[in-house]
Amino acid sequence: MKGLILSGGTGTRLRPITHTSAKQLLPIANKPVLFYAIEAIRDAGIKDIGIIVGETKDEVKAAVGDGSMWGVDVTYIEQDAPLGLAHAVKTARPFLKEDPFVMFLGDNLIKDGITSLVEEFKKEKPNVQILLARVREPERFGVAELSDGKVKKLIEKPEDPPSDLALVGVYMFDSNIFEAVDHIKPSWRKELEITDAIQYMIDKDFTVTPHIINGWWKDTGKLEDILEANRIMLDCLEPRCDGRVDKSSEIIGKVIIEKGAEVKTSTVRGPAIIGENTRVTNSYIGPFTSIYFDAVIDGSEIEHSVILEKSSIIDVHTRIEDSLIGQNVTIIRTKRKPKAYRLMLGDSSRIEII
Ligand code: G1P
Repeated sequence: MKGLILSGGTGTRLRPITHTSAKQLLPIANKPVLFYAIEAIRDAGIKDIGIIVGETKDEVKAAVGDGSMWGVDVTYIEQDAPLGLAHAVKTARPFLKEDPFVMFLGDNLIKDGITSLVEEFKKEKPNVQILLARVREPERFGVAELSDGKVKKLIEKPEDPPSDLALVGVYMFDSNIFEAVDHIKPSWRKELEITDAIQYMIDKDFTVTPHIINGWWKDTGKLEDILEANRIMLDCLEPRCDGRVDKSSEIIGKVIIEKGAEVKTSTVRGPAIIGENTRVTNSYIGPFTSIYFDAVIDGSEIEHSVILEKSSIIDVHTRIEDSLIGQNVTIIRTKRKPKAYRLMLGDSSRIEII
C-alpha cells in the first residue's frame, strides 16, 4: 500500500499567513501539521509516500526532504494548478500505479492516527473506505448521508446538510478510483472533487465503506481550528527542559523548553512550548501557547496563541490572546511622538485593538 499526501492548495482561509508560506507547514505544538500526516502513515506501516506539491513546493521539499527523517521514501509529485483533490489523484497515477493507497490531506490532523483504519481496509478490501466525523458546521465539509450503515449520498459543502457527518480528509482507495476521477466534471468551485468521484463509485455499485471516527480530528483550515489543534496537541506532550531557565522564572505545568531557548524573569504556565533559540524575558507565557524558533518575547504577556519563527513581541502591555502571528513579525511599543499606531499589515490581516 502507498501513501499520498496532498500539500498543494492555496490556504485562502489563512491569509495573510499563507501569502508567504504553505498552510501544511504551519506548526501545531511547534511541529508542521504535514509532519503529523507523514508520521500517521509511517506508523500504519506504509513506507512509500507521494507528496503532491503546488506553488509552495520548494518550501515543502526543504522541510520534508527525502523522508529519511521518518524512515520513509518520499516522492514529490507536482500539480500544475490546484484543480481539486480528484485532480491530484489523477496527477499521482504514475506514482500510485495499481497499488491501493491512503490519501491524506496535508492540513488534516487525526489525534489517534490511522493504523487501525488502514488495517481494517487491508482486511476487508472494499474499493473505498471513507472516514466520517460528527461536526458542528457540516456545511463547511463534504457530508455523508447514510442508510442502514451504508453510504447513500455524499455532497460537497451542502447548503442544507443531510447529516452532521463530515468527510474526514483521509481516504483509502483501490485502483478503481482512477475510473471515477476520469469520469467526473468540475464542480461549482471549478475543482474535480474527490467527493464526486466517490459518489460515482457508489452509483456504480463499488463497495464504499464508511467508518465513523470518535477520536479528535481537525481540518486546520482556519484560525480557530489552528488554535484548537494547538491546544489538543500541546496537552499530549511530555514536559522537558533542554534550554535555560533562570532562578527568578517560574515554570508551571506541562512546558517544553527546546534547545538553546532561554527564559529569564518570566512565568511560563503550561501547556506551552518555547522553541529553539527563542528568548523569553520579563514576560508571561500562558496556557496553550506555542512559540516557534528564534523568536523574542520581552516585557509582554501571551496566552492561547501560536507565534511563528523569528517574530518579536516587545513591551506590549496588554495581553495578547487567541492570536496567530506569522514569521518575522514585530510588535513593539514605541516611544515615538506623536503617539499613534504604526502598522504594516499584509493583505487580509485582522487586528483587534483596545
Ligand atoms: C476537503 C474535501 C471535503 C472534506 C475536507 C476535510 O475540503 O473536499 O469533502 O470534508 O477536505 O478537510 P476543502 O479543504 O477542499 O474545502
